[in-house]
Amino acid sequence: MYAQNQIVLNADLGKHTISKHIYGHFSEHLGRCIYDGIYVGENNPKIPTVDGVRKDVIDALIKLKIPNLRWPGGCFADTYHWKDGIGPLANRPTIVNTWWGNVTENNSFGTHDFLNLCEKLGTEPYLSGNVGSGTVQELADWVQYTNFDGVSPMSKLRKENGREKPWNVRFWGLGNEAWGCGGNMKPEYYANIYRQYATFMTSTGNTRLYKIASGASDADYNWTEVLMRDIPHNMLDAVALHHYSVIDWNKKGPSTTFSEDQYFTTMQRAYQMEELVTRHSNIMDKYDPNKRVDLIVDEWGGWYDVEPGTNGAFLYQQNTMRDAVLAGMTLNIFQNHCERVKMANLAQIVNVLQAVILTKEEKMILTPTYHVMEMYNVHQEATMLPLTIQTNQYKLDNRQLPALTCSASKNKEGVTHISLTNIHAREAQEISIDLRGAKYASVNGRILTAATLQDHNTFENPEKIKPAAYNGATLSNNQLKVKVPPFSVVVLALK
Ligand code: AHR
Repeated sequence: MYAQNQIVLNADLGKHTISKHIYGHFSEHLGRCIYDGIYVGENNPKIPTVDGVRKDVIDALIKLKIPNLRWPGGCFADTYHWKDGIGPLANRPTIVNTWWGNVTENNSFGTHDFLNLCEKLGTEPYLSGNVGSGTVQELADWVQYTNFDGVSPMSKLRKENGREKPWNVRFWGLGNEAWGCGGNMKPEYYANIYRQYATFMTSTGNTRLYKIASGASDADYNWTEVLMRDIPHNMLDAVALHHYSVIDWNKKGPSTTFSEDQYFTTMQRAYQMEELVTRHSNIMDKYDPNKRVDLIVDEWGGWYDVEPGTNGAFLYQQNTMRDAVLAGMTLNIFQNHCERVKMANLAQIVNVLQAVILTKEEKMILTPTYHVMEMYNVHQEATMLPLTIQTNQYKLDNRQLPALTCSASKNKEGVTHISLTNIHAREAQEISIDLRGAKYASVNGRILTAATLQDHNTFENPEKIKPAAYNGATLSNNQLKVKVPPFSVVVLALK
């Protein structure tokens, strides 16, 4: 039978590695992300913890294999003074979290807590430095405090606070959204500031700092142009794009009771990532044809209205099959652009925006997005296999989008993985995949799907949506036939 969708997979033409850092996450002092979601303190009678961090969350994140975790913001980062969060708890000052609800922050979760957590998770920390309201000295000191193994005032202070050896943090953001909450700067001004801060952030020992500039918002191509033009590339490792899938900033719509029209618009916004990554990369190619500087997308995801009855500044939203297909589609885009896109951070890890984990007192649930991130993590550090795709269109009114997105890779053991995301709300996709350049003998897979697009996991029914074995693929003469149900995500393994 003629399939609606035709893919040609070139199994012998892989050149570029899919960086595991595309699977990064983001944790901000915002709402219930850090306090409640991650950190509940050491003496919580109901919730088991390790050094004050929820054990259930640690276990779930270890299973997810998260490669890096960004902290402490977001907008919060440019108000954060790291020295407030070290030393005896009783001596730590409080601050007001002005971006997120003016709540009083007691600084009980600080540098040691975060970096020790990263060690437990086996993840690399990504520290977002305060450029908007901090000082060059303050950020240079933070680098020394976390990374210097010799004798210095900062390493002495670290040791006095109980940590002998440095953590050797590689990833450093120099400000966040410098065009907005990070200082409302113009790109030329920020480029100069960046140069100044970067000059005093010194690599020590074996840890070469990877310096990340606050990049563009969405389609602000001029921002990328100026940064690439004005910052010497030997002091710039990456520029960080932000793109959220928002229907309308004034009317974002509900996270669960959305219509097909709202779903379609969310998918349109998410699919824009393809164009954004392509166009920002094109500008980078002009200044950096050898791809020395990476494009990273250190904030992405769906953004809806908060759950009814919750604090509007806390950005707590539920997570449905809409989020699962959004994640599958976006990861396919990043993977296909892995030559330039080397890192991405889903916003945010627990209880905020498109979270992989939601908590309610002692209960914790994994969202559909968690399951997609887990299913796709087989691609981490594998060789991306180029493919061509002809796809059916998902049409609504006079709008249309490709119904199917796909990416593929071959891992070190020689297993090929193909990820397919069908965003169509009503129609299954029949796909025929021509496997060229390798011989395959077997196929198996996993699927994430549900009865309705709005389905989600709840604290009462935490496993309504979870991956299942998928038997809908047949392999014959190196031709693969697959049928993917509406709004579902499939990952195939071929040997
Ligand atoms: O993720 C929530 C906020 O969105 C971040 O703090 C900010 O960087 C972005 O505008």
